[in-house]
This record gives sequence, structure tokens and C-alpha cells, in this order.
Amino acid sequence: MLDPAKLRADFPILTRRIHDKPLTYLDSAATAQKPSAMLEAMDHFYRNHYGSVRRGIYTLSEEATGMYEAARETVAEFIGADSSEEIVFTKNATEAINLVAYSWGRSNLRKGDAIVLTEMEHHANLIPWYILAKEKGLELRFAKVTDGGRLDMMDFEKKLKGAKLVCVTHVSNVLGTINPVAEITKLAHEAGAKVLVDGAQAAPNLPLDMCELEADWYVFSGHKLYGPTGIGVLRTHAPVYEAMQPFLSGGEMINEVGLGDVTFAEPPATFEAGTMPAAEAIGLAVAIDYLNKLGMDSVREHEQAVTEYALEKLSAIEGVKIYGSKKAEDRVGLVSFTVDGIHPHDLASLLDQDGVAIRSGHHCAQPLHQKLGVPATARASFSVFTTTDDIDRLATSIKAAQKTFSEPVKA
Ligand SMILES: Cc1ncc(COP(=O)(O)O)c(C=O)c1O
Repeated sequence: MLDPAKLRADFPILTRRIHDKPLTYLDSAATAQKPSAMLEAMDHFYRNHYGSVRRGIYTLSEEATGMYEAARETVAEFIGADSSEEIVFTKNATEAINLVAYSWGRSNLRKGDAIVLTEMEHHANLIPWYILAKEKGLELRFAKVTDGGRLDMMDFEKKLKGAKLVCVTHVSNVLGTINPVAEITKLAHEAGAKVLVDGAQAAPNLPLDMCELEADWYVFSGHKLYGPTGIGVLRTHAPVYEAMQPFLSGGEMINEVGLGDVTFAEPPATFEAGTMPAAEAIGLAVAIDYLNKLGMDSVREHEQAVTEYALEKLSAIEGVKIYGSKKAEDRVGLVSFTVDGIHPHDLASLLDQDGVAIRSGHHCAQPLHQKLGVPATARASFSVFTTTDDIDRLATSIKAAQKTFSEPVKA
């Protein structure tokens, strides 16, 4: 089991004080803090190896190209892809989903075709499909979420009949629910539908194996995985590539260009137009190396233990309502909750006074909040450095906020 207290030394930002209190960072599901190794690797690259990727035959350009391609290998191995050619670097998960909507959806879906989404999707996995549906006259179906916070598989199977595409999150960013992705892809493929999986909340928390999940597209963001902003991943593979048209176009995604005609480079280059985010890809690879050293099984084990502790501590506070399953094994390291009589934004701002950083709002999942019957929730999310002391500080701070709200306002 990893030692979170020891790992804190790897994250320089944790020495920050907020309102003269030690920082208790509980917003890793929004974005993860960065280990020194990652910061140093990006700095080292810019100071020693920086050059234009794939655009030069001088030493620095070749070094930069080599490091960028090595980063692709690291990502492929981390998620159990068959080869680095299956990895397309994007800006983030959002861009990767948009890429699929435009490059596959636009040319393969026709008027009347159905897409199955779920009620627990992040807006990133809704809006690109809403736009495409409007443009092409597609039908959108939404598989239900049960009262216990799980995907209703009976409803999913019903909605799947005749559908061409399934877009589903691996893990809910509000409920923490882990969806049975391997089962979903199997059912979808049997029904003749392709599957896009949004792995933004899964990649930082769960060991991943693309061969086991068998999604046609799997996407995630680097910044939630202890890597930098500006880098995301789309994993797909040869048979699917063949049916995909270019998305962004311009330099580096071509084979040959004449006046008025073009042939395209082979994937993944087809989908990486323009100057590559080399430092970001290298930073992501080092963040992955960091996680590999800890071992994703240990990361999962640790987050489950912290989640169990948090569920116990928060449920013991009167007036706190927790959303989603009460069992840690059903979820990743995040807990959304409300506190009677305190708006989540007020709660988050009071907690900030104690140095406790949590997220509040609809977490880019408004349809799910409508289903839950609340406009907003508060969310505490955990990482490799989260300790039980952090959870104790969260609980103490919530109780102090309740006290503040129960006191009469002085004239
Ligand atoms: C489940 C899920 N999908 C997609 C995204 C979008 O990630 P990004 O903003 O990095 O593109 C998020 C971010 O919060 C998320 O939680």
C-alpha cells in the first residue's frame, strides 16, 4: 500500500498556505496537482532538447521528435494498447470527443441514426453529440441512472436496440460510479454499435487495459493524471481509423499537397495537425512513470481506503447527504454531497477559509443534477497524497460551516 503522507513531499504546491492554513487539496477530479518529477522533466526538455517536432533534421529537432514519440509509447503501454500508433495526442478529453464526433460521426451517421448516451455524462460527452444530432437529424437516447447511482443496464439494453453509437463515461465525475465498460462494449458490438468511452475520471484511478475494454475510442486528459494541461489522449485502432476523416487540418497531417489537392499522412499523424504539444506529451509520460512506480493497483487500493473513510466521516455528520453508492468499491476517489441549509458555493467558500479546496456547482453534469433534484453539489476528490488527516480537516470544516450558518446574523 502506498504511503500518502510520504508522497506529499513529491508535490511542491502542498507547502502552500491558504488564508494562513495548510492547503488541503480535495479537487483532484477537476485537476490533479503536479509532482516535481513532471515539472522538472518539462523544464529539462525546454532547457536542453527543445526543437520542432517532425520538422527538422538537426539534432534538437530529432531529439524532440524522439522524446515526443517515446511519450506516445509510454501512454500506449500504460493503458494496454497494442501499439503506439493507436495513440492520438489531443488538447484534452473534450477535444478528443469532438474529434470523434467530427471525424467519424459526421461521415458515418445519417438522418434518423440513434446515439445512446447516459444520464450521468459530463457535458464534454453530451454537447458534441447534441450539435451533431441537430446538424444531421440524429436521435439521442439516454440510458437511466438508478436511485443507487448505477447505470441501469436493463434500460441501457433497451435503448441500445438499433443504435449506431454508444457514448458512455467509464466513471461518473459526480457519483464516482464505475461503469461496467467491458460489458457495455460487448453488448454494443453485438448490437452493431460503436462505442466511445470517456475515461477522464478513470485513467487517474483505475488500472486500464484497452484489450479488455474493447472500446472503439477511449479518451482522457493529461492534467487529471498528474500531467500538464494542454495534452489529452484518444486511443483507437486500425479498423476504426479507416472510417475516420481528418478533424483539424493543416501542417504535419499530410502526405503530399498540390495546388488544390492533398493526400493525408497515416494515423495517428492524420489527427495531429500543426505544431505538437511536445513538452506536454513528455510531461504526461513522466507523470505516467510516476504512477507506474506507485503501481495502479496500489493507487486504486489507496483511493478506495480514503473513499471508505470519507464516506464514513461524512455520513456521520447530521445534515450531510451523500450522492451515489455508499460502498467504496463501487466508486473511485470522489464524494459529492450537500449540507442542509448551505449552498455548495457558500460551503466551498467557507471551507476555503480553512485552506480546504473542494469543488462546488454542477460539475459540468447538469442533466445528472436535474435527475438528483439539486442544482448543485459539493465534491471532495482524492489523490495519491490524500491522507485521513485531510478528510478529518474536511469534516471539521463542514461542521464549522454548519455552526456559522446556524448562528443568528448580527445586525
Ligand atoms: C467525466 C469527464 N469527462 C470529460 C471531462 C473533460 O475533461 P477536459 O476538460 O480535461 O477536457 C471531465 C472533466 O472534468 C470529466 O470529469
